Amino acid sequence: MRTTMGWQADGPTPTLRRVPLERRELRPDDLAVRVDHCGVCHTDLHAVDSRDGAADSADPPLVPGHEFTGVVTAIGAGVTGFTVGDPVAVGNIVDSCGECAMCRAGQENFCHAFPTLTYGGTDRHDGSTTLGAFSREYVVRDRFAYPLPTGLDPAAAAPLLCAGITAWEPLRALGVGPRTRVAVAGLGGLGHLAVKFAVAMGAETTVLSRSPDKADDARRLGAHGLLVSSDPEQMAGARDRFDVVIDTISAPHGLGPYLRLVAMDGTLSHLGHLGPVTVETMDLLVGRKKLSSAGSGGRPATAAMLEFCAAHGITADVEVLPSARVNEALDRLRRNEAHYRFVLDMSDLD
Ligand SMILES: NC(=O)c1ccc[n+]([C@@H]2O[C@H](COP(=O)([O-])OP(=O)(O)OC[C@H]3O[C@@H](n4cnc5c(N)ncnc54)[C@H](OP(=O)(O)O)[C@@H]3O)[C@@H](O)[C@H]2O)c1
Ligand SMILES: [Zn+2]
Ligand SMILES: [Zn+2]
Repeated sequence: MRTTMGWQADGPTPTLRRVPLERRELRPDDLAVRVDHCGVCHTDLHAVDSRDGAADSADPPLVPGHEFTGVVTAIGAGVTGFTVGDPVAVGNIVDSCGECAMCRAGQENFCHAFPTLTYGGTDRHDGSTTLGAFSREYVVRDRFAYPLPTGLDPAAAAPLLCAGITAWEPLRALGVGPRTRVAVAGLGGLGHLAVKFAVAMGAETTVLSRSPDKADDARRLGAHGLLVSSDPEQMAGARDRFDVVIDTISAPHGLGPYLRLVAMDGTLSHLGHLGPVTVETMDLLVGRKKLSSAGSGGRPATAAMLEFCAAHGITADVEVLPSARVNEALDRLRRNEAHYRFVLDMSDLD
């Protein structure tokens, strides 16, 4: 095994500790990646906060982190697409069956055998639980590493690999372009990238937020404006206005207020807090509205998103912190203080 250092939740509190971690020896199609930067996704926070926490808990240790950039430091015997020294980016999927209809269609994120998640997943070969990239090294199957385009800042590009691709696929699948009216609910990590993408695709883009003080940021990101989601008058005034509403809200919430903003035959794409939702069918019936969801992205879409980002100069707005401040980053994310993504610099783990 290869030994590296990382940040792990394994005790009764949601505090991550610096610990040595083991990575597998390289298989023929593996890359070893020195993780330089890893974004802090709200999913990491959900994962840390949903641990049982009891001293006798059966929860396995958790190493979060699933949107990272770094440099290839070693390659397996059969790897041809990468060499040592290549800058790469890796997201929240690190393997899939490769054979099902979804994998054959390039939608590995929907693999019928379920994709292997970057952390908390089950390795397809040895059955071990995957440990994430809040760590100095990650070993990944070459198919699930992407060359990082030159020109993209590695720290600011890391969040593209989860927040970015999760926003990208539905915008593309829903045909967002110059005549589309898009609203993005929740201006956080996913939300601010959804705004940047929608604006770059030419859509007229509006932010829906509880936070009126984000209005200047919304306009700086290219949005037309910001509607305060807690203001019933503003919400009523925007009835049936948007062809596409991208919902990135991280807490459970009713969909009614957002469905009512969707135009006839338009779509609410619910990407945020996953779990059961209650839908009043009248909110769909009136206007033949559609409710959809999505998550992560397939290999072709991820590569296309990175090319688009390089062409349009799109990366996340980040606050980079040394990885030793990971617990502070999680706390501030809990308090909705990210503008708009914390990224950990892993070099302090050397
Ligand atoms: N589908 C997927 O594959 C996928 C991938 C990644 C993440 N996610 C999920 O997507 C969600 C967003 O992730 P993120 O990293 O973008 O989180 P984030 O940076 O914390 O942003 C979430 C935003 O939601 C809004 N919000 C938070 N609590 C709210 C509440 N109680 N009521 C209304 N709005 C609230 C806030 O925006 P305002 O201040 O503007 O209101 C906040 O900035 C998380 O639940 C995450 O687990 C899903
Ligand atoms: Zn994520
Ligand atoms: Zn598959």
